Parts: sequence; C-alpha cells; structure tokens
Amino acid sequence: MRAHPSRKALHEISCALRDWLTLEAGFGTETVPASSGSRQKESPLRGGSGDNLGLKQIEREVASCVKCSLHRGRSQTVFGEGSPRAELMFVGEAPGAEEDRQGRPFVGQAGQLLTKIIESIGLRREEVYIANVIKCRPPGNRGPLPEEVHTCSPYLVRQITLIRPRIICALGRYATLVLVRKEESLSLLRGRFYDYQGIPVMPTFHPAYLLRNPSAKRLVWEDMKKIRNALKESKA
Ligand code: URA
Repeated sequence: MRAHPSRKALHEISCALRDWLTLEAGFGTETVPASSGSRQKESPLRGGSGDNLGLKQIEREVASCVKCSLHRGRSQTVFGEGSPRAELMFVGEAPGAEEDRQGRPFVGQAGQLLTKIIESIGLRREEVYIANVIKCRPPGNRGPLPEEVHTCSPYLVRQITLIRPRIICALGRYATLVLVRKEESLSLLRGRFYDYQGIPVMPTFHPAYLLRNPSAKRLVWEDMKKIRNALKESKA
C-alpha cells in the first residue's frame, strides 16, 4: 500500500513551493504569480536594539551636513529608512536622482528590484533597514570619491551601532569596501559572511548591477538564501 504524506510533510512542501514562487517572482520571473502575504506573518524579525531617538539625532546632523562638497548639489540628504529594530540591514552606495528627489533610499529602478529581493526572503521593506554609505547624491551618477566615503561613512557606522542588526547585506563594492575592508573584486568576496564589529556581513551585487547583468541574479539569490538561513539560525 502506498503511504500518504503526512500533514507536516505536505505543509513543508507547500511552504517550500510558496518560497520558491516568491523568489522566482522577486527575481523577475514575471509569469509566476506570487504573494508574500502569508510569509509576512511569519517574519523572523522581532527587533534588534534600535534606538529611534538616536537615529533621529544623526538624521538631523546629516540633514545639515556640509562636510564635503556633495552638499552643494543635493536637493536633500538621504539618511536611510526602515525599522530601527531591524534584524537585517542593507547598505548601498549613494542616492541617485530619484532618491535625491524623494529623500528616501532605493526608490528608483534599482530600489524596486531591492524591494523584490527583500520580499523574496519573506520580509517586507519596512521590517529591514536600508541605508547608504553616502548620504548625498554624487553629481552625474558618478561613484563616490575616496574622501567622500571617508567623510560620510562615520554616519553609517553610527546608524549600524544604534540599530545593531543581526545581519548586514552590503550591496556593491563601496558598501563592501567600508564594511568588509577588503580590496578584492566583489565576484570573489560575495557569497560568504565577514565580520563587522561582531555582525555578519554578506557582500553581494548591487541591484543596479543586476539591472545591467540579469544573469547575476542567480548569484544574489544564492546570497539571499544564506542570509535567510542565517537569520533563521540566529533565533533557533
Ligand atoms: N543606489 C544606491 O546605492 N542607493 C540608493 O539609495 C539608490 C541607488
């Protein structure tokens, strides 16, 4: 007689299927309909040690910062957003045109992809924290200069110290340089955790890079699975 799968096994299969569908949708497979609704209730995030008042204080300092020449070209600063008690923090490079206009990180095309990446591991954007190494838009979409990174990154360090996430995902080479402090290429560094002040940091490709190189989404997906598993393990 054929054994029927237990309710538990069926539940596990359906969870795995739902995760897979969500991930496929999140990484641009438009033909697969997916909803992250039920995952949201199961969010593993239950809060770190976030200090919202402390963050507000830094945000005010950043808003009036004139420590480098980038302040001359900005419409406004882009401090960061999300839960001050986030267990997962994403760190990008610098605001682009849309971020400069809205004063929020990752709201342009790359930001939409980042939102999908976050949802692909069953989280909502509001549950994580998103910040950049640089708080003002560099002109003409150029990368930040070393002196700009040097001047601005202490704000990021203070944000991390207050939020104290369980895991940081460094998006692209500037965030990786600041947090991992290794000069090797991102292709070599990604996919492994490094230590930043006791916090595991996973470097991965920047969403803007993924828009230009969609085949690298597979690698980012591998990195996101590691982050998802590490978050689960950190509360087991
Ligand atoms: N790219 C970044 O690195 N940060 C943003 O906020 C937007 C695009």
